[in-house]
Amino acid sequence: MKITFFEVPEKEQPIFLKAFDGVEVFCFENKLKEETAYLAKDSDIVSVFVGSLVDKSVVDTIPNLKFIATRSTGFDHIDREYCASKGIQVSNVPAYGSRTVAEFAFALLLSLTRKIFGAARQLKEQGEFSIFGFEGMDLNEKIIGVIGTGKIGKNVIRIAKGFNMKVIAYDLYPDVNFAKELDFEYKSLQEVLTQSDVITLHAPYTKDNHHLINKENIATMKKGVYLINTARGELIDTDALIWGLNEKIIGGLGLDVMEGERELKEEVEILASKSKSENVKDYKTLLEDRVLIEMPNVIITPHIAFDSKEAEGEIIKTTVENIKGFISGTTQNLVK
Ligand code: NAI
Repeated sequence: MKITFFEVPEKEQPIFLKAFDGVEVFCFENKLKEETAYLAKDSDIVSVFVGSLVDKSVVDTIPNLKFIATRSTGFDHIDREYCASKGIQVSNVPAYGSRTVAEFAFALLLSLTRKIFGAARQLKEQGEFSIFGFEGMDLNEKIIGVIGTGKIGKNVIRIAKGFNMKVIAYDLYPDVNFAKELDFEYKSLQEVLTQSDVITLHAPYTKDNHHLINKENIATMKKGVYLINTARGELIDTDALIWGLNEKIIGGLGLDVMEGERELKEEVEILASKSKSENVKDYKTLLEDRVLIEMPNVIITPHIAFDSKEAEGEIIKTTVENIKGFISGTTQNLVK
């Protein structure tokens, strides 16, 4: 039995290397992708994070592969249909970051509504202790629209209630009891988008909700709306975001995830390699990501909402349990 871990920082590698008895374990900082799949060639099990792309070509390079343990909640970086066709099971870490990510969504929101980033930068870079230009907005009594009321969305609602915000929400499967308990209302997607002062996304990305937020529905949002996305970049059309910001419909944008972020992370490597640059599906999005990063009223972080000390411990613990469960025939946290 051989297990290969990808995307593990050096300081965490000893934990995984010592966690399994009688099994060969290898750890790499590299992402698992077409070019690095040979590192796991004889593996029965691989473990990845969200920077990896486990597609058909990767799966075909690892012929013994039986189990993939992603150390994330989201699993849209794995071609599950192809894995299923090969009898490969996939597990995730369903609940590590539900408070961690919810807190981060508010960190982005408050940085925008209270202009913290610009004010701190002015003081640091220009040394100017001036109050002008930083008038913000209170969250008190504002309407927050939560899209996706699963584990993270629910914690966002709990925090929003602490700020005395009025909560409205949209989910494919509303949790009516939770809505009663927390005193908020479920509405249609369109109602949530048009009525909210703040919109925050907490739905997984699937092929059915590609560009859930697009030019057509941004046009119907309240002028000056704050939009937060810590879920997945592909839920929003990047082109439409730039348009919405230019039109001043979007008053503040906080993103921890971006469409095409995998390519963005490897931009320099891609541009330097002819074969890789020929394979990039969407240069326009890559360029638009760069434009967005530079725009005012925009804060973008590099997919770090999950990254707290507490969440990291939970990720490691659950991943080890998932893999041990598979080895002993008692699988847990399988994704469909
Ligand atoms: P969850 O599975 O507990 O909840 C997701 C909710 O979204 C469910 O209630 C589901 O019914 C709803 N939903 C699904 N499709 C929908 C749609 N089209 N429209 C509206 N609602 C929809 O997942 P959890 O733990 O709350 O995580 C949500 C997402 O957050 C993950 O799928 C992942 O993509 C992202 N995430 C991002 C992290 C980061 O570091 N930025 C870390 C962890 C998760």
